[in-house]
Amino acid sequence: ASMLYSPKDMIDKKVLVTAGPTIAPIDPVRFITNRSSGKMGYAIAEEARDRGAQVTLISGPTNLKIPYGVNFISVKTNEEMLKAVLDNFSQSNIVIKAAAVADYKPEVYQNQKIKKKGEKLSFDFIKDTDILRKLGEIKEEQILVGFAAESQDLISNAKSKLENKNLDYIVANDITSNDTGFRSEDNRVTILCRNGQVLEMEKMSKRSVARKLLNLVNKKR
Ligand code: CTP
Ligand code: CA
Repeated sequence: ASMLYSPKDMIDKKVLVTAGPTIAPIDPVRFITNRSSGKMGYAIAEEARDRGAQVTLISGPTNLKIPYGVNFISVKTNEEMLKAVLDNFSQSNIVIKAAAVADYKPEVYQNQKIKKKGEKLSFDFIKDTDILRKLGEIKEEQILVGFAAESQDLISNAKSKLENKNLDYIVANDITSNDTGFRSEDNRVTILCRNGQVLEMEKMSKRSVARKLLNLVNKKR
């Protein structure tokens, strides 16, 4: 029913959304990943589409249905997401990075399956690209929106990310509340703006969060 009321106010906009987790392969049969479901990013892509935007959705592996009417790009690793994002960045007006991108990857990928031996197994991980930070460095006219998943000091951590990554907005998400955030249907977020404005939102559906976020981001500057 909500679709009936989607205003067609983004017809002239190209929106790039990233969603879901990325994975970091360890050997041919194993990888590490995170708990991101992709629901928040998909809700944003669908909301933007219903408002008439031209949407590109770059997604890590999720169990969600591919939304109709969007340019969908499937990726697995940080590196693949980076490439897809850079390929689409310059032609986008609004870029929203809801994906939970892996910060580290195994230092070496083992070409053969790691065999069971010994009582302990450990890996060295190395830092992978911060895609959003890179976008903040190269951005021109794009409006850049990040997400911040925090388990403590929500606002101050999110504010640092907003500044360090040169963002226009950041959506701060407290992942410790168990009925919102990762995997759940609802979300309770606080949106921080570059101009210092802090918008604390009540708990609502991810689609409603998407609507509020796009209301804000779609304002003419
Ligand atoms: N992000 C990214 N590339 C990474 C890590 C994060 O593009 N390698 C983006 C996410 O998509 C998100 C934002 O940066 O929009 C914040 O992600 P988050 O994990 O909360 O912050 P980090 O900067 O990675 O810091 P930390 O994990 O230490 O809190
Ligand atoms: Ca991170």
